[in-house]
Amino acid sequence: MTEPAIKYHLLKKESHTAARLGKLQTPHGTFPTPMFMPVGTQATVKTLTPEELESMGAGVILSNTYHLWLRPGEKIVEEAGGLHHFMNWPKGILTDSGGFQVFSLAKIRDITEEGVHFRSHLSGEKLFLSPEKAIQIQNALGSDIMMSFDECPPFFESYDYIKSSIERTTRWAERGLRAHQNPEKQGLFGIVQGGGHLDLRRQSARDLVSLDFPGYSIGGLSVGESKVEMNHVLENTTPLLPENKPRYLMGVGSPDALIDGVIRGVDMFDCVLPTRIARNGTCMTSHGRLVVKNAKYAHDFTPLDENCNCYVCQNYTRAYLRHLFKADEILGPRLASYHNLYFLLNLMKQIRQAIENDNLLDFRAEFFENYG
Ligand code: GUN
Ligand code: ZN
Repeated sequence: MTEPAIKYHLLKKESHTAARLGKLQTPHGTFPTPMFMPVGTQATVKTLTPEELESMGAGVILSNTYHLWLRPGEKIVEEAGGLHHFMNWPKGILTDSGGFQVFSLAKIRDITEEGVHFRSHLSGEKLFLSPEKAIQIQNALGSDIMMSFDECPPFFESYDYIKSSIERTTRWAERGLRAHQNPEKQGLFGIVQGGGHLDLRRQSARDLVSLDFPGYSIGGLSVGESKVEMNHVLENTTPLLPENKPRYLMGVGSPDALIDGVIRGVDMFDCVLPTRIARNGTCMTSHGRLVVKNAKYAHDFTPLDENCNCYVCQNYTRAYLRHLFKADEILGPRLASYHNLYFLLNLMKQIRQAIENDNLLDFRAEFFENYG
């Protein structure tokens, strides 16, 4: 019997919520959960080096099958010795399957039982992605955690459409399991879908759980629905997922959604939000978002966030950052990206401490009093 690639250890459950403290063991190190994963779509977390990511406490990052398949091609990454070697990142890597990216980026498309036909958003070339192909690419990339190929239907799509969609996504997940070449080196997660229909969410969760994946993702959220609706789906999904496996909420990364997701039993998150808003000068702080380009910061020689211990807040002022952005200097996006990721990773650390102390709801109230 070979050891599975991914092992989740549940360390503690918070007394007043569904929050869990745990750790996830991967072939490239163990990281504590709940955890936020910085996004490195094209084998780079935009503007930052792996050393900088490690210095802020990142233990796992996300990358994308779709983008790396189109460019440079998974063969080149494989030739480099896998994605870890190619990008010089020694810790955990999770890859998304391409399902979501095909639906959001490419000019699709024809969805069939076999897979999805679409045109590349780069070259216009006709392409086809299937559950087997998505696994084969991820096997070549060598990520620690792989995602099943799924359809992410709109949240408000009809019951009948979403029912047939989740049933196909489960069949795709099963095909992915069969195509997976090395479960002892890479863990494959199933992705729960179901839009806003709670009984379809439950059906999707139950069907995927019966296939016994080493972890479960929750997809199809943060796609235009309200926070209340997202939380409602979460609290009707996580109770159906096995306690001894990790749960990953895909594409969610605003501070409020992270806290509310953890409260409902989510262990992992990813989002482009911190790095994307950083590149236009929006910074996350304990007092809410700060648009550092604003004229009011021209003479402000205080740090971005007086409560932040990051390299940027220890060494640079709002006035300097504002100048960098106004002058279009590359260091501006770099420093803002560093600070925003540090801010979210530190928030997760505080959340883990609050679970340890059984005071996550108090932490939430206090956080929102300041965050506004
Ligand atoms: N990223 C954000 N949401 C989703 C989703 O529903 N499916 C996949 N594969 N990736 C996502
Ligand atoms: Zn900072």
